[in-house]
Amino acid sequence: MKIVSLLGSPRKKGNSTQLAGIVTSTLKEKGNSVTEYFLNELVFKGCQACMACKGKSESCVVKDDLAPVLEAVKEADVIMMATPVYWGEISAQLKSFIDRTYSYLTPGFMTEEIKHRLPKGKKLVFIQSQGAPQELYADVFERYNAFFKMLNYFDETHLLRGCELNELGQAMKRDDLVTRAKEIAEKLL
Ligand SMILES: Cc1cc2nc3c(=O)[nH]c(=O)nc-3n(C[C@H](O)[C@H](O)[C@H](O)COP(=O)(O)O)c2cc1C
Repeated sequence: MKIVSLLGSPRKKGNSTQLAGIVTSTLKEKGNSVTEYFLNELVFKGCQACMACKGKSESCVVKDDLAPVLEAVKEADVIMMATPVYWGEISAQLKSFIDRTYSYLTPGFMTEEIKHRLPKGKKLVFIQSQGAPQELYADVFERYNAFFKMLNYFDETHLLRGCELNELGQAMKRDDLVTRAKEIAEKLL
């Protein structure tokens, strides 16, 4: 299996990054290929709404550091998206990536059955880390997943949400989160 891990926190040792690392290291141990992109290190724009991907091109025409990431995601069996909650939302880094996946959509995606140009069978792991308790921000993944479902992006989705996390490394001390991360990795195999 090919796994592409999109790390959306600016903190390289952040909780979302570390939880993603548990999933990917479990998958690597079983011989799968993992490519990680630390989005904060890449120089890229959000979607420019140029609509080139709905006419003259089948892929995004913006040539910046995200171009190879968008190509790698096309080839991947599993996509991981890891993000902190900022102002009740995903990080700007991950949001800009998701905006650019507009380029995967076919010109007729609003009305036609075939909505995107991605190979079928992809799985999503979504990792969300937040300072607030679990009563808050359950809507974040639900909102994005509603789009992913409508667009038939993924065959399977797995959510790992870590709450009341702020300090670096805190997630690694939470047995419930570490166990859930390993369980998700096993389910993907
Ligand atoms: C700019 C900023 C905005 C934040 N906004 C929220 C928020 O709205 N709700 C929340 O629960 N935590 C918020 N936090 C806390 C982070 O979500 C929390 O520390 C998270 O675990 C960080 O993830 P990371 O360790 O992967 O970077 C915010 C932190 C920062 C720096």
